[in-house]
Amino acid sequence: RLLKIGLIPGDGIGREVIPAGRRILEALPSSLGLKFEFVDLHAGFQTFEKTGAALPDKTVDVLKSDCHGALFGAVSSPSTAVKGYSSPIVALRKKLDLYANVRPVKTVMNAAKPIDMVIVRENTEDLYVKEEKTYDATDGSGKVAEAIKRISQKASYRIAAMAGEIALRRQKIRQAGVPSIHKGPLVTITHKSNVLSQTDGLFRSTAREALALAKFNSVEVEEQIVDSMVYKLFRQPEAYDVIVAPNLYGDILSDGAAALVGSLGLVPSANVGEGFAIGEPCHGSAPDIMGQGIANPIATLRSTALMLEFLNEEEAAAKIYAAVDANLSEGKLLSPDLGGTAKTEDVVQDILRRL
Ligand code: NAI
Ligand code: MG
Repeated sequence: RLLKIGLIPGDGIGREVIPAGRRILEALPSSLGLKFEFVDLHAGFQTFEKTGAALPDKTVDVLKSDCHGALFGAVSSPSTAVKGYSSPIVALRKKLDLYANVRPVKTVMNAAKPIDMVIVRENTEDLYVKEEKTYDATDGSGKVAEAIKRISQKASYRIAAMAGEIALRRQKIRQAGVPSIHKGPLVTITHKSNVLSQTDGLFRSTAREALALAKFNSVEVEEQIVDSMVYKLFRQPEAYDVIVAPNLYGDILSDGAAALVGSLGLVPSANVGEGFAIGEPCHGSAPDIMGQGIANPIATLRSTALMLEFLNEEEAAAKIYAAVDANLSEGKLLSPDLGGTAKTEDVVQDILRRL
């Protein structure tokens, strides 16, 4: 199978870590029957400064017409608004209808408190439809601001179904030999339907319906109210396998969960739509360490594996996960964010060797 992959390094350390994603794909054993073709694409602040567009049309067109998936590094956003500039990854999610944001959070197995979970966040609606208004109250309250929280059956159904698929796939990856603390697939639906009975109520009941499909028979389904979810996430993170949430709760839970594993340099993500996935490390362009060759490449390598999962190449993904886990468990060649002294290149070479 030939897979065409767009490479969008972006700014800062994005340029130092995305090449590692390419190298690990090229290093996959030929017995998997995979071939890759890469297309270099541009986006980000430097691109904006050069061309006037943070996300050139060509990048979107090539991804749409010619690629199976992509890797996106990070982009720098100016701290004060710059006219004409807006985040290219947000625009890409819209233009390619990447309706899910998937964020695995995992420690090494020999951690004092091992964690291995995935947060699946709905990415198109909820309060993020950005329909807000401000008006003067007539009852003396001064100004009042309101925002629409929109939840649809369609979006809730497809995100819950995706969570179910991910739970099943994680089971396959465990069976392919990547160790995990979990035995069976479990999906936790997160909401606040005790208060928001219509919006979150619809999310909850629709997610239940999607996960009741026969193909998810082996998946255990439970629910957790979002505030107690946060409590449990910190007290008992090992209890979770796949968490599915509407946009806002998912945003908060996924950043909170990332804090549990120690470094941003470890946490991958994927932006996923129908038949397309962009792997993206969770970190930014890290101007404080750029150019020193010490960025941790693991978030990118895991994002590369995650992209492969969504292209139905679980076996290839499992090989990358296993090689990364072996590097971390041994703990000899670690980058400075993890307390080591290894350079990006040393870490990449160690993981390639294990692959
Ligand atoms: P950041 O994620 O770039 O850095 C935060 C801290 O984590 C820094 O100390 C950095 O050195 C460290 N760090 C991040 N990734 C690392 C890695 N792979 N290895 C080792 N250490 C790592 O977040 P910050 O500093 O808030 O933002 C910097 C720039 O990145 C800003 O312009 C911001 O807008 C942008 N950004 C972009 C994102 C994206 O493209 N998705 C996400 C977050 C921030
Ligand atoms: Mg966030």
